Amino acid sequence: MSETWTLLKLLRWTRGFFQDKGIDNPRLDAELLIAEVLKLDRVGLYLNYDRPLTAVELASIRPLVKRRGQREPLQYLLGHTEFWSLDFKVTPSVLIPRADTEILVEEALKKAEDRGRLLDIGTGSGAIALSFASEKKDWQVVGLDISPAALEIAEANMHRHKLENQCRFVSGDLRQLPEQTYDLVVSNPPYISVAEYRELMPEVKEYEPSQALLAGKDGLDCYRELIVQAPKILNSGGWLLVEIGHQQQAPVSALMQAAGLKEIYCRLDYADNSRVVGGRCG
Ligand SMILES: C[S@@+](CC[C@H](N)C(=O)[O-])C[C@H]1O[C@@H](n2cnc3c(N)ncnc32)[C@H](O)[C@@H]1O
Repeated sequence: MSETWTLLKLLRWTRGFFQDKGIDNPRLDAELLIAEVLKLDRVGLYLNYDRPLTAVELASIRPLVKRRGQREPLQYLLGHTEFWSLDFKVTPSVLIPRADTEILVEEALKKAEDRGRLLDIGTGSGAIALSFASEKKDWQVVGLDISPAALEIAEANMHRHKLENQCRFVSGDLRQLPEQTYDLVVSNPPYISVAEYRELMPEVKEYEPSQALLAGKDGLDCYRELIVQAPKILNSGGWLLVEIGHQQQAPVSALMQAAGLKEIYCRLDYADNSRVVGGRCG
């Protein structure tokens, strides 16, 4: 006779399996993965603990549990993630948007006047561009990325949130930006050094696109390229805002100063790490 798997038994087994594999939040990941397949929310899981699972349900859950055990990110397995309270499609072609990056959206919203044009450099899934556009209906927003596969995901997210009238996504290289001007330029560029990259957890190093992460020997290559172009692409009084790694405030501020930007400042994140550096075009 085959063994009966209730939901509670499966949750407990999966949590233990994930724990053994060194996963950070084994219980949460087990719940989210199983809830997604069963089309339940987490409260729905708790209310169905005694429900026996069918062979079909078990067959759908098993390969996903195995892949998570191999440290594939949960968000790629689910195919979506939340950012700025919006649901974004994600695939291994794009960096998974991080909660810390919401700080950059907050700063962009603070600097935004009634209307204007924003450029998001290295847009990836479009998370920053689309979140900003969802809040500022009188702004036109352009997202630029070097990766054609990322641009496809950004466009899918634009349609998902019905922001076609405000947003467009273009192929381009931050090393040579098109000569158009904007009132706000934001970027969460690659900023990991070669040494830091080696130390990243397997979820990031083995599954997220290295092109979205690596920025040369000291992690500053992209800042060097894009900050020097800021005066050319910003309208007078416009702001450049960039996300940074927590030890990059001094060199990034220095690059902004050398490029002639004014009113340079740093915003901390909710863990008190330096997270966004901004400068204004005089
Ligand atoms: C750290 S990810 C940020 C993605 C997204 N903006 C976010 O915050 O979740 C950096 C993005 O920059 C893009 N990128 C890397 N090199 C680039 C280049 N030379 N020109 C334009 N985009 C580039 C990558 O494809 C990736 O989508």
